[in-house]
Amino acid sequence: MKTTEIRIIVYEYQSIDELPENDQNLLQEARRITASAYAPYSGFHVGAAVLLENGTIVTGNNQENSAYPSGLCAERVALYYANANYPETSVTAIAISAAKNGILVSEPIKPCGSCRQALAEAEVRFETPIRVILDGQDSILVLQGIESLLPLSFSKKDL
Ligand code: THU
Repeated sequence: MKTTEIRIIVYEYQSIDELPENDQNLLQEARRITASAYAPYSGFHVGAAVLLENGTIVTGNNQENSAYPSGLCAERVALYYANANYPETSVTAIAISAAKNGILVSEPIKPCGSCRQALAEAEVRFETPIRVILDGQDSILVLQGIESLLPLSFSKKDL
């Protein structure tokens, strides 16, 4: 038996003002789009802003449905729109924010497993790591790639 340790690096910031300028801009976009989420069932409003290699920012928010599983998370709304409209352009970063009753959540928002898998696909597809910015009042976390969110992930390399 052999033990292997998988380490992830998490950069933690106390406020948006401490972030590098590009991250600040992307996070502002995620915060802005959170307000127009359609989340009448959960009351949990999420916004995502995706940065493309050409500088374009694409935003999305969660879209819920009375048939609950038909809804979609903010991250995939933004990512799939980006992939649909810019199929040749790498995704380089995503910022995610969330609010309850219009107030930014305390702990950094953590994307669900399905969104992590969707982001992993985009990384493999474009062969570019995706920087991840997770917003919260207490702290803002920055990760250098999806490997940090989803280690040992399944991808086309396994097919
Ligand atoms: N949600 C997102 O949009 N992204 C996340 O990272 C976590 C959860 C949405 C799905 C659902 O509309 C609501 O938040 C509550 O789960």
